[in-house]
Amino acid sequence: MMPKAAVLLLLLLGCLAAAAAAAEAGEAAELAVAVDPSWRFPSQRLRDAYVALQTWKQQAIFSDPRNLTGDWVGPAVCGYTGVFCAPLPEGAPGAGELAVAGVDLNHGDIAGYLPPELGLLADLALLHLNSNRFCGLVPAALRRLRLLAELDLSNNRLVGAFPGVVLELPALRFLDLRFNDFEGAVPRELFDRPLDAIFLNHNRLRSPLPDNLGNSPASVIVLADNAFGGCLPASLGNMSATLNEILLINNGLDSCVPPEVGLLRELTVFDVSFNSLVGPLPPQVAGMRKLEQLDVAHNLLSGPVPDAVCALPRLKNLTISYNFFTGEPPSCARVVPSDGDARNCLPNRPAQRTPQQCAAFYSRPPVDCAAFQCKPFVPVPPLPPPPPAYPGPLPPVYPMPYSSPPPPARYR
Ligand SMILES: *[C@@H]1O[C@H](CO)[C@@H](O)[C@H](O)[C@H]1NC(C)=O
Ligand SMILES: *[C@@H]1O[C@H](CO)[C@@H](O)[C@H](O)[C@H]1NC(C)=O
Ligand SMILES: *[C@@H]1O[C@H](CO)[C@@H](O)[C@H](O)[C@H]1NC(C)=O
Repeated sequence: MMPKAAVLLLLLLGCLAAAAAAAEAGEAAELAVAVDPSWRFPSQRLRDAYVALQTWKQQAIFSDPRNLTGDWVGPAVCGYTGVFCAPLPEGAPGAGELAVAGVDLNHGDIAGYLPPELGLLADLALLHLNSNRFCGLVPAALRRLRLLAELDLSNNRLVGAFPGVVLELPALRFLDLRFNDFEGAVPRELFDRPLDAIFLNHNRLRSPLPDNLGNSPASVIVLADNAFGGCLPASLGNMSATLNEILLINNGLDSCVPPEVGLLRELTVFDVSFNSLVGPLPPQVAGMRKLEQLDVAHNLLSGPVPDAVCALPRLKNLTISYNFFTGEPPSCARVVPSDGDARNCLPNRPAQRTPQQCAAFYSRPPVDCAAFQCKPFVPVPPLPPPPPAYPGPLPPVYPMPYSSPPPPARYR
């Protein structure tokens, strides 16, 4: 058995403990690093940036094998490796003043955690930390980054619930949290945010996807390799004008494919492989006129592949292997790669399931898609056209030639 003191020490030194303590200390924490009183900073914002970056380096970075922070010395933060300064944009408070606009430590292999003092980098527009070893929680103090447009924390060791602070960043457009250990549910509010790109793949997110997913204006959504289960949200149909790519690979989805996906007329990549989707591949899928890649492999789909799907004009690769499809029209030969239809119940095709497997599957009662009680997508009817705008300048109030009768003739 480990001595009690050693266990305590381990707990104290553990990244989680350090990060959690720091996160609790929060924004009220006293200045964590000393600032040489003889230094003159061009502005309070650059002084704040100094405190943030030095706290990070001195207290929250434990290993920096590429020595990226080696030159993080002295008050000239704009010269630090990975730190980028720019004048604040028009319209922002302090417009024109030099500020730390970006921190990019991508592929740094740095180990440590994200201290709450990062909230002092209040002018950041981009924070790119992918492929490091940052662990612990995402500090809530990041809510002070009112200009942050791009947040890339991918490929780190971050844990905890979905970091709700990202929902409080008004300027955020690009959110990349993939390859971490976030767990629990994805909050509904995520899909009401004005994000262009959402990457959450390869975390430990669970519980069914919120049915408002289709509210998102994102063009790219990648949610692969989590464990959502439940419905493939039919509200996807609401993204018809904007969604370009969606990857839902290996998420335990176990509903039918909702026909509403056919509304996605801008979609080029649709990948729902490695789930437990059942029922037919609905013919409405052929509504995705720009589709180039369609992967439904490794599900429990049944019946024939619709001819119109294989005939989609831009389709380059349709993969249907490891399902229970029973028919593949000739039009599919152009788009299904060799092996792309293996392990189905297709007559006259190589490498299919055995007749016994197919017979056993089709002896079960047919799938009732309604039984999943997935929320349907009901498009809001287009609003009636507004009344035509007044066609010209408003008439002058005086004179009022029509409302005021002409004077009687005898007074002329
Ligand atoms: C790290 O970088 C600093 C500044 O560039 C340099 O002085 C120092 O020697 C470097 N350390 C190592 C271990 O390379
Ligand atoms: C479609 O998305 C918009 C936001 O883009 C949302 O306001 C609207 O409620 C959604 N419609 C439906 C029927 O879900
Ligand atoms: C088609 O897509 C599958 C998976 O989506 C991929 O493994 C395969 O390499 C692709 N084949 C071709 C010919 O592009």
